[in-house]
Amino acid sequence: MPPDPLAQPSRPPSTRVLMADPEHFDVTYVINPHMAGHVGTVDRDLARAQWEALRQVYLQLGLQVDVLPAVPGFPDLVFVANQTFPTQPRQGPPAVILSHMHAAERRGEVPIVARWFREQGWQLLDVPEQPRDGIMGSHFEGMGDANWHPGRRLVYGGYGWRTARRAYEDRLHLIDAEVVTLELQDVRLYHLDTCVSPLDEHTALICDAAFSERGLAALSACFPRLIRAPVDEAMELLAVNGHCPDGKHFVVQRGAVRTVALVREAGFEVIEVDTSEFLKSGGSVQCMKLMLD
Ligand code: ARG
Repeated sequence: MPPDPLAQPSRPPSTRVLMADPEHFDVTYVINPHMAGHVGTVDRDLARAQWEALRQVYLQLGLQVDVLPAVPGFPDLVFVANQTFPTQPRQGPPAVILSHMHAAERRGEVPIVARWFREQGWQLLDVPEQPRDGIMGSHFEGMGDANWHPGRRLVYGGYGWRTARRAYEDRLHLIDAEVVTLELQDVRLYHLDTCVSPLDEHTALICDAAFSERGLAALSACFPRLIRAPVDEAMELLAVNGHCPDGKHFVVQRGAVRTVALVREAGFEVIEVDTSEFLKSGGSVQCMKLMLD
């Protein structure tokens, strides 16, 4: 049985979000199935306009938005959920756990994001890459695969495509919270943030096609109310990659008609945005931002 979320220490809500300037966003390689066929097709001006519209939504919701400057040569840097995992250690300044990216193309993003956090006074936490049983690899893709239960010190840890299951064991002392690991079974839903979106303490939007029976049982034990997004909307529009920053509003790629109806029925206010250019890279709202504690 997974731990009871409400028995875990509480975490204050976050009102600050980091986004990364999309100046050099592009699809120049294929590391997930969504990117196939999209190399060289990104409309850069449209991408900037879509990114800016998302930034305005966060500002209108009353969040502070920090912007990480763009760096040439890193077309996926804009997915700023992936390079780190923010946490609040029991003592000292807030911290980020640094990712160990799965794809070689993205490894150079981590020091860029780390430098920004260091300049802001955050602690950088990391683990050495150590072979175990002769196997290298404790890949970890930050908030792409790990996410907090809203308001609680409890972490959901997706693994299978980008993050190794072992990554959570290796980082447990840094995460300093219970971790519910969830195996991801469908490569189109390759990050946890493509198949789980926590909405409030009791509610999560999920795509059940991504999970094993065991995973689904764990999720339903932790969230009394699970909203199941239709598989086609989760895969084609990354409908579950929408984001609820405040327990009330759900910001999501437009056009996911059935998902939107279900989320509205559950009492949330839905804000639709267009992230079509970013969908070409396999990302949408939830991975275009990082909540800062
Ligand atoms: N092209 C990026 C990649 O495949 C997209 C990352 C999207 N991020 C996310 N957390 N889903 O790595």
